[in-house]
Amino acid sequence: MVLQANRKRVVIQRIATFDEFRDAVSAYRLPRVLLVALELDLFTTVGDRSWTIPDLAKELKVSERGLSILCRNLAAVGVLQKKGIIYKNSRLGATALNADHRAYRGGYLNLITRHWADWVRLLESVRSGLPIDHDIPDSPDYRRQFTWAMHHRTLEIAPAIAAQVHMGHAKTLLDLGGGPGTYAMAFLAKNPTLHATVCDREAALEVAKEIADTHKARRRLSYLSLDFSKEPIPGMYDVIWYSNVLHMYSPEENRAIFRRALAALTPGGRFIIQDAFLHDRESLYPLEASVFAVSMLLFTEGGNTYSASEAAKWVKDTGFVAVKSLPIRKGTEDWEDGVLEASAPGLHPKTTARRTRSRRN
Ligand SMILES: C[S@@+](CC[C@H](N)C(=O)[O-])C[C@H]1O[C@@H](n2cnc3c(N)ncnc32)[C@H](O)[C@@H]1O
Repeated sequence: MVLQANRKRVVIQRIATFDEFRDAVSAYRLPRVLLVALELDLFTTVGDRSWTIPDLAKELKVSERGLSILCRNLAAVGVLQKKGIIYKNSRLGATALNADHRAYRGGYLNLITRHWADWVRLLESVRSGLPIDHDIPDSPDYRRQFTWAMHHRTLEIAPAIAAQVHMGHAKTLLDLGGGPGTYAMAFLAKNPTLHATVCDREAALEVAKEIADTHKARRRLSYLSLDFSKEPIPGMYDVIWYSNVLHMYSPEENRAIFRRALAALTPGGRFIIQDAFLHDRESLYPLEASVFAVSMLLFTEGGNTYSASEAAKWVKDTGFVAVKSLPIRKGTEDWEDGVLEASAPGLHPKTTARRTRSRRN
């Protein structure tokens, strides 16, 4: 169970005093209030009506005292609106948090609600070095839910990224570990002559097909069911997009996947990695990327977050050339400075020029 963290930075940056330590630890309180509201499906029940606490308590089958304190806090942070004794949904509550609305992001909300109980077990993973449910195999049912969660996480981010990661003359793109195919669909929407393939496990591809059914560009999308950590990648592609997969694997596993990716790229083809990279010398920041590594400890056998420079070294060691970071406008990123591009050696004119120059030096 892999948590996809929020793309905004975590708020706490430094803890030096006892008060700052206490405040940091106490930060669990408000998240718990929000998650209880989700567990009650409160925003769906509130819907587009106005409620008094006694009426809503009756409907939700909870105590009036408990609900009144809960709702006061929900109103204080703006997810409910309060006027006198009346409560209503905020815009967010009425849409993304409301199961009866078409903008509902239930997949992602279910995932983060379940993660509370998972994170309570962190000590187990710190002791063992293993994921908390390492003995439970990945079920197709779980994979389906997770894939919907990934879609709900990136459906606004992906088009913004696709607008900034240019496909140039590429005709084919492989979305490696593409899950719901949200990124593949965004690249197709932006590039009218591109064809894309989503590569993932069968249960994830079923969700990708359901989502693609609602898109015009679905005729240019195909599917590849494959375990790319074990098998070679069939076919040849101009671009391989490896987004939010790097952190699931150990350095050795990633290097093996990079070799398979290189073998599946046309000469001069591009391998583009998007992930929660660390950027400072000690690999501590952005803090969000460090905290995200804790999720990898909880949910994967060997995953972690990595510095952009070590990932760049792995791709160079694999045989890629022209490795560089791709700039993405602040506020539109999936992760802060999170896109790294490399090219397969070959016909790419810039690559050839650079290699000729470096040979002369
Ligand atoms: C965290 S999700 C990322 C989805 C998408 N690329 C994105 O950026 O939102 C990772 C995806 O990689 C897939 N995946 C990981 N390892 C895989 C493997 N060895 N073979 C096939 N799919 C894999 C998972 O099933 C999951 O859908």
